[in-house]
Amino acid sequence: MTVPLLLVAAGGLAREVLSVCAAIGRPVQGVLDDDPVKAGAEVGGTRVLGPIDHVERYPDTELLLCAGKGSVRRDLAVRLEGLGVTDDRYGTVVDESVHVPSTCRVGQGTILLRGVVLTTDVRVGRHVVCMPHVTLTHDDDLADFVTLTAGVSLGGGVVVGEAAYIGMNASVREGRTVGAGSVLGMGAALVTDQPPGTTYAGVPARPIKE
Ligand SMILES: CC(C)(COP(=O)(O)OP(=O)(O)OC[C@H]1O[C@@H](n2cnc3c(N)ncnc32)[C@H](O)[C@@H]1OP(=O)(O)O)[C@@H](O)C(=O)NCCC(=O)NCCS
Repeated sequence: MTVPLLLVAAGGLAREVLSVCAAIGRPVQGVLDDDPVKAGAEVGGTRVLGPIDHVERYPDTELLLCAGKGSVRRDLAVRLEGLGVTDDRYGTVVDESVHVPSTCRVGQGTILLRGVVLTTDVRVGRHVVCMPHVTLTHDDDLADFVTLTAGVSLGGGVVVGEAAYIGMNASVREGRTVGAGSVLGMGAALVTDQPPGTTYAGVPARPIKE
């Protein structure tokens, strides 16, 4: 029997995940969210069951962190670890349109939305989010908590550091690195390495703030 999912954070990403779950027939127990206004409300056809601290009430579920920002997903993972949640409690959600070749690895807690392409030898870490039509090519390496928004394209051998965020339709030249915690703006073309903790944008991408 398929273990039901328990989503954490009742925002737009959770609704996107629920849409995938409905299409692939994946059962969902509900959503946990700390916002008292959302308690008991319906989100994307499922119910907000209560705050995140209630996670222990649902032991027979797989968890999925649905905060859009990787740094927030990382904070949630640390908090849940403090509540006794072990790494193996996390599920993954992969849209039915996505093929994960046997040469590629996708970590637990990761979400791949519609039209994501992985060519070969791609490593996707834990709690990564790839929004629609992200293209990952040979030997790309995404660390944990990375967020790639719609239409991002990575050339071969690109390394994206932990919790980095890449805006819509940005592209990264082959072999380049996007540093941990960095933001690359929408529409950017990154042709250099981007240091950790920086914000770059434009064509070619340049720092807009440190
Ligand atoms: C890069 C980004 C993070 C900067 O946001 P910000 O810190 O709020 O910066 P601001 O909007 O104040 O812009 C700062 C400057 O950078 C410029 N800028 C912002 N984003 C830019 C981009 N993507 N490309 C080129 N220039 C950009 C602004 O025009 C502004 O220039 P100015 O100082 O000459 O007026 C943001 O614009 C961005 O691209 N976010 C990604 C959005 C996205 O993909 N969302 C997906 C949701 S699912």
